[in-house]
Amino acid sequence: MAETFSDSPAWQALRRHHATVRDLQLRELFATDADRVERLTFEAGDIHADLSKHRVTAETLALLLALADERGVASRRDAMFRGEHVNSTEDRPALHIALRLPRERSLVVDGRDVVREVHEVLDRMRAFSEQVRSGEWRGHTGRRIRAVVNIGIGGSDLGPAMAYGALRAYSDRDIAFRFVSNVDGADLLEAVRDLDPETTMAIVSSKTFTTVETMTNAASFKEWLLEGLGGERTAVAKHVVAVSTNLDAVAAFGIDPSNAFGFWDWVGGRYSMDSAIGLSTMIAIGPEGFGDLLAGFHAVDRHFAEAPPERNLPLLMGLLGIWYRDFFDWQTHAVLPYEQYLARFPAYLQQLVMESNGKRVTLAGTAVDVDTAPVVWGEPGTNGQHSFHQLLHQGTALVPCDIVAFASPVEPLGRHHDLLLANALAQAQALAFGRTKDELRAAGVPDRLVPHKQMPGNRPTTFLLLPRLTPFALGSLVALYEHVTFTQGAVWGIDSFDQWGVELGKELAVKLAPVIAGDEAPEQLDGSTAALVERIRRLRDEG
Ligand code: F6P
Repeated sequence: MAETFSDSPAWQALRRHHATVRDLQLRELFATDADRVERLTFEAGDIHADLSKHRVTAETLALLLALADERGVASRRDAMFRGEHVNSTEDRPALHIALRLPRERSLVVDGRDVVREVHEVLDRMRAFSEQVRSGEWRGHTGRRIRAVVNIGIGGSDLGPAMAYGALRAYSDRDIAFRFVSNVDGADLLEAVRDLDPETTMAIVSSKTFTTVETMTNAASFKEWLLEGLGGERTAVAKHVVAVSTNLDAVAAFGIDPSNAFGFWDWVGGRYSMDSAIGLSTMIAIGPEGFGDLLAGFHAVDRHFAEAPPERNLPLLMGLLGIWYRDFFDWQTHAVLPYEQYLARFPAYLQQLVMESNGKRVTLAGTAVDVDTAPVVWGEPGTNGQHSFHQLLHQGTALVPCDIVAFASPVEPLGRHHDLLLANALAQAQALAFGRTKDELRAAGVPDRLVPHKQMPGNRPTTFLLLPRLTPFALGSLVALYEHVTFTQGAVWGIDSFDQWGVELGKELAVKLAPVIAGDEAPEQLDGSTAALVERIRRLRDEG
């Protein structure tokens, strides 16, 4: 049976309101409301957010906040911050906010002070990172480490890979960083092909230490290493470290427990880049930089916990997402960083949002009777402008966009950054206000081209502006999206912290791998899969 919260008073009020405002034009809203920009501009951590180009009135926001109230978003947030078991299907807290609590704080959860435990691990990470960065840590043959390969997948890859990409200008340029995730052997082979085993270290990052892709890549890395180092198994201790919650499995894999960095089951994979999973980040940017990253996260955590609802940026952005997904029925959401260093940010957000909120049942196990997470996608500007922005401007599908921009560049180069920012602003302008037929005619556009050149506008954007992409700024941004995702999950009444939907595919793949290699299928395969297996075998036989 569906939990019909779409019948609730707040939802119904929004439905009625939507019918009256859905055709309102941003041009009109700006023309009739002098204070709009001031009222709809927000600050959180390093983030300045302009929400004025959204298709909302003051009443829309009031009604959305009433929905958040009705759905108990604030009390669920407080429960999360206290360490209650908000991840109910796995019966555990979702306590990523504890990963960035300052050392002097304490938070006792299930009888343990998690802040003390977090800082113990941070201290070990710090000592280890300093050894690697200073060259004190030596490989098996006595040479210093010049390449770090993070082996992990999902949250154990996307966070570290995105963070390294974002912060590489702050990184130790004498160490190369590579990220291997795909079980496709090409990923590992390409990552190590120009590396020297004597100077390479792997960080095997896996919360469970059972994920087949990571275990397969780690085993192949070990072989590559031993082959390069003359087969001496003791070499592993100097070249492979692990990050996991499953320290027994780490030891069973042959990694010295003193080279293992732990975290806890209350850190979800997609919420783990600021746990020990961030070890490669800390080696890259140094412990101080990592501290700044954590401070950025914490600043936005505090904002989310403390800012009043009507000034609470993650809450409002989350509610705007609901407005478009459930009331306008728009199915995707684009994130467009105008910052090349954030090239992997949309991919990171895909996991955060879609693995968290791609759900169809409520916490109680009943069907959600409204739509949940949008498809999240994006590419850095200005590249996207020359590919998919055509659809954003004139397509029939409407896509709310987040534009992320920085006032100053990380590395200045001539006029580049002015042009980049001008483009970011211009896109938001064009999306919101478009170009009318009259404007086109007045500019002398021939009648036959007017419909083609007309820009409908009225396409909403969030404009996030930060001073510069720093570790602090990155932490602020990630925490912002974590809490936007949380807000939406809380409104939909779903468990944003489990991911049961990925299990079946994993199970089936484990069964199919030996079949592809030539074994009999353990059970009758469906016709399509059987035919494809047959074809794979035949193609391989033919060479
Ligand atoms: O794909 C499912 C998933 O469990 C993700 O949630 C997680 O980030 C990823 O696999 C990797 O898991 P692990 O860190 O345990 O190897």
